[in-house]
Amino acid sequence: QESVQELQQRDKTNYQLDTRKKGMELPPRPKLFDFHGVSMIHHFTDNWENIRNFQARPDDILIATYPKAGTTWVSYILDLLYFGQTAPERQTSLPIYERVPFLESDFHILPPGTELADKLSTSPRLIKTHLPVQLVPKSFWEHNCRIVYVARNAKDNAVSYFHFDRMNQAHPEPGDWNNYLQRFMDGKMVFGSWYDHVTGWWERKQTHSKLHYLFYEDMVEDTGRELDRLCSFLGLSPSAEEKERVRGGAQFDTMKKNSMANYSTVPIMDFKISPFMRKGKVGDWKNHFTVAQSEQFDEDYKKKMKNTTVQFRTVV
Ligand code: A3P
Repeated sequence: QESVQELQQRDKTNYQLDTRKKGMELPPRPKLFDFHGVSMIHHFTDNWENIRNFQARPDDILIATYPKAGTTWVSYILDLLYFGQTAPERQTSLPIYERVPFLESDFHILPPGTELADKLSTSPRLIKTHLPVQLVPKSFWEHNCRIVYVARNAKDNAVSYFHFDRMNQAHPEPGDWNNYLQRFMDGKMVFGSWYDHVTGWWERKQTHSKLHYLFYEDMVEDTGRELDRLCSFLGLSPSAEEKERVRGGAQFDTMKKNSMANYSTVPIMDFKISPFMRKGKVGDWKNHFTVAQSEQFDEDYKKKMKNTTVQFRTVV
């Protein structure tokens, strides 16, 4: 187990997180390809053997999401709940992507997610994934691990993903909004179709009792209430004071200013184009969709979602 200081030192020497400062060229943007029926980029498949064979531990907590659904928010909340009091130094010295390794990532600016996770000796380990349910390593199911899935309504999710793809050099060029939206509807996005992702995980919830399916919109509406539900799922009973500390620390404005939570330390993201912590709102899609785009989207949505019982409240 490495100490926080050792991790920081490794950050400076091996992670090359200051490539931009050094004026080094960033690699070209990757191309999408089909991976077991899911659109992917090589950053998430290069390490596939290790991902497939990843050894989960029974107390691991997997945070699963379609990208841009609120992963960082929920990761941060879980980290505060478990380690806010016992390891307060994490809050000021360890970026969220090291506290909560991104299982399938292999960006060459950090060790692969599987390696970061293997090195964690915290109990529980918090591990993030964007994989669709069918690609999750089997040991998470064998150990019956707790899983927190976060889902966000399709329109806001698409908008947030668009701005993320604009600023994130490690993802394919998004192109213009109209084409991007069409690609979103076609499922030609990194990690595949939003529709398949949210419905696939929803179906799994019916058989995997240790899956807590959370909605971003509910979190925005009443973070305290959702925190209570999350704690009861996790079997935690923090004091009112502790809960308030977690809720306050994980507020959008607080996280946006926190360099350990806002991804400002990652060189492949250009915050001049768009910050990682962008708006944090429900309904921003109304500032992006034309009436015609919205109508076409709704029409298509009904068809794609007709066989599922999962309900998002702000889509139409
Ligand atoms: P926007 O782009 O709409 O602002 P992820 O962590 O899965 O990549 O999701 C990122 C999205 O979650 C961004 O959405 C980001 O602003 C939002 N987000 C992150 N922390 C948040 C918080 N504390 N409260 C509300 N939204 C938050």
